[in-house]
Amino acid sequence: MIYINKLSEHVDEEVTLKGWVYNYRSSKNLYFLELRDGSGICQCVVSKDDVSEDTWEAADTLRQESSLEVTGKVVEDERSIGGYELQVSDINVIQVAEDYPITPKEHGVEFLMENRHLWLRSQKQWAAMRVRNEIIYAIHTFFQERGFVQMDAPIFTGNAAEGTTNLFETEYFDEKAYLTQSGQLYGEAMAMAHGLIYTFGPTFRAEKSKTRRHLTEFWMIEPEMAFYDLNMDMDLAEDFIKFIVKQVVERRSEELEILERDTENLEKTISDDFPRISYSEAVETLKSEETAQMLDEMAESRKQERKELMEEREEIEKEHGSAKKWRKAQIDQRIKEIAGRVDQIEEDLRNIPTWKQSALNFEWGEDFGGSDETILTMKYETPIIVHRYPAEIKAFYMKRDPEDNKLALAMDVLAPEGYGEIIGGSEREDSLEVLKKRIKGHNLPEDVFSWYTDLRKYGTVPHSGFGLGLERTVAWLCGISHVRETIPFPRMMGRLTP
Ligand code: 4AD
Ligand code: MG
Repeated sequence: MIYINKLSEHVDEEVTLKGWVYNYRSSKNLYFLELRDGSGICQCVVSKDDVSEDTWEAADTLRQESSLEVTGKVVEDERSIGGYELQVSDINVIQVAEDYPITPKEHGVEFLMENRHLWLRSQKQWAAMRVRNEIIYAIHTFFQERGFVQMDAPIFTGNAAEGTTNLFETEYFDEKAYLTQSGQLYGEAMAMAHGLIYTFGPTFRAEKSKTRRHLTEFWMIEPEMAFYDLNMDMDLAEDFIKFIVKQVVERRSEELEILERDTENLEKTISDDFPRISYSEAVETLKSEETAQMLDEMAESRKQERKELMEEREEIEKEHGSAKKWRKAQIDQRIKEIAGRVDQIEEDLRNIPTWKQSALNFEWGEDFGGSDETILTMKYETPIIVHRYPAEIKAFYMKRDPEDNKLALAMDVLAPEGYGEIIGGSEREDSLEVLKKRIKGHNLPEDVFSWYTDLRKYGTVPHSGFGLGLERTVAWLCGISHVRETIPFPRMMGRLTP
């Protein structure tokens, strides 16, 4: 089998490609077929004069997503997508597809979600899944190269790890079980056996709010390290993110281009240190005059941008009437882009006053909301690490700061450009006595945690870890605004199919 992404090895050879019709257009004597085979897209040109009558007729029956084999000569062509073109000599149609529901015209996102099983074939979706795959590859490479052992935590659990408000409960014979919210507690047990471990698995949270950052089923990568303190934890998280971003930028430039991802911030993420600020410093930043001013300036520049876009639209609309066919298509495309951008700007302009209010009124002790995270990262091009949160808003297993008992030795990595928290982690409480007190204090059932407290009885050591949300990482690297497009089949409130 020869795949489109390997055509450079077959220039001037005759090859057979197998795939689906992504797009087609025809004229009297030429038929242009964009074939996709999963590895890429290749323009195949059928010339009436060069093929048999059967082949020409076969080409004529093809519709979007029809499946086929195409034979022809590979020629280099810079103008062609992928840089190569196939001069067709023969076509073998496998199936002429029925009318395909996803056409090149704009579709609403609900329609596309209903057709997720087909939408996955579209180019941007294809590119996002390739980036996701690269991230997964980078994650394993990073940990394996550093001597971490990948171990699996169970999915049915008898206890909550991350609070009891968003647990999915299910029957388990005569007992109740919960779908795991995090592999961490098991990860701690495994780290006491192997030193350095990471889990990589699905996690579940009954998130009842619809946001662009929350799924009910998402994948989390959780390293856990014996003898690591909070600083070592933050260092590892930073190295880890840099490693992933570097690999994606180096190896998935084609996909990032398809996604129209501006990689400037990603380059900075690879080269620059991540600023580390304490929660208390972050709160001061939020409430500062400087932040209020920054938001005002943001609103002003959005308004200016909107004005310029509207002017551009007026200009090209005037041109439309007398434009040639190709130029009309170009104008239509640009008008669509402008409309999309203006929608975004309108949304920002609606949001900014609310963001400003909630930042100014923020009280020490509260948890950051999405907009607070957006504001905190706005000044930076790399992710930032916020550490030492109020213990009250963090999980029971986190160790308190010996310098200030109100604080937990916690850290979050916040991605720039409005993506927000991608990593949450901490140093863990290692004293048996204190941990038991915390379990009680959080009203958690002591008996189901007895195996976990055992870890503090038999050779307890300082240890730390963190969890990276895979889908949020994919969203950030791809520049996709909503996590529903970062996983093949998203699960959210109100979405269980396809
Ligand atoms: O901050 P969280 O809740 O941390 C933990 O679960 C710890 N047990 C991790 C650890 O220390 N081993 O979640 C970790 C990350 C978040 O930063 C976010 O990226 C992602 O998981 N995440 C979600 N992603 C998509 N949808 C949701 N509903 C998510 N909830 C958390
Ligand atoms: Mg968190």
